[in-house]
Amino acid sequence: MSRELAIRTVGLSKRFGEVWAVRDLDLEVSRGSVYGFLGPNGSGKTTTMRMLTTLTKPTSGSARIMGIDISERERVINKIGYLPEQPPLFEELSGLEQLSYVTKLYGLPRDVAETRMKDYLNKLDIVGDAGRKIEGYSKGMRQKIGIIQAVIHKPEVVFLDEPTSGLDPKSARTVKDLISELSSSGDTTVFLSTHILSVVDELSDRVGVLKNGVLVTEGAPEDLKKKVESGESRSLEEVFLSVTADHEEEFKGG
Ligand SMILES: Nc1ncnc2c1ncn2[C@@H]1O[C@H](COP(=O)(O)OP(=O)(O)OP(=O)(O)O)[C@@H](O)[C@H]1O
Ligand SMILES: [Mg+2]
Repeated sequence: MSRELAIRTVGLSKRFGEVWAVRDLDLEVSRGSVYGFLGPNGSGKTTTMRMLTTLTKPTSGSARIMGIDISERERVINKIGYLPEQPPLFEELSGLEQLSYVTKLYGLPRDVAETRMKDYLNKLDIVGDAGRKIEGYSKGMRQKIGIIQAVIHKPEVVFLDEPTSGLDPKSARTVKDLISELSSSGDTTVFLSTHILSVVDELSDRVGVLKNGVLVTEGAPEDLKKKVESGESRSLEEVFLSVTADHEEEFKGG
């Protein structure tokens, strides 16, 4: 593959005690693409993202983000934005203060920071609450501030762990449009996990499905849907259920 990769993992693995949360993961994500990361609860999606964003060390294997080894924490951090499952927010700050704080951390010039904050707060329809303290925020309001702080510095690679979680339909639509915009520029790579299959179906260039820490299938959403033996076209939901099925469940009992 001649095109340079945004994300590359080789044998990436993480063990917690007896449990292999992620096992021998080999991933290649092209620059400027959207990669949808699927898998049942506990399959290792968040653990993978935490390794790729340098928050937890792999047990074995390696990974590079924009060509930089994840052991080079500072250099990797400069390339990425991350929305974790629980966005890290200071309860005592207002949404606006939180965003001002992160833009300072990222070293954004003040005028640029102000313009982008205003733009994103408007887009995500939270401008009216931006002056309120985060401690009084709803789940969706927190999620919106978390999303803005993951992208406001225009990182080269954005990791979004369940970006539409807790969002109302209109806000979820806005976030999906935002992800499309980011990737259509060709400069930003988006790696997202979700349980909402329509999100990956709509946005992803490629999809990977994890099960018990192992990548069980991968491909373009269209190809996965065609991949079934019968030749009938199937929904991504059927593909997901079939590749993550436990064999015992095929015995219907009775
Ligand atoms: N800090 C930890 N200590 C022990 N086990 C952990 C820890 N973090 C994750 N695990 C285990 O690793 C496995 C993968 O968890 P992970 O959070 O990565 O799954 P996930 O795919 O993100 O699930 P979900 O869809 O529910 O968010 C699970 O068995 C989980 O219990
Ligand atoms: Mg998770």
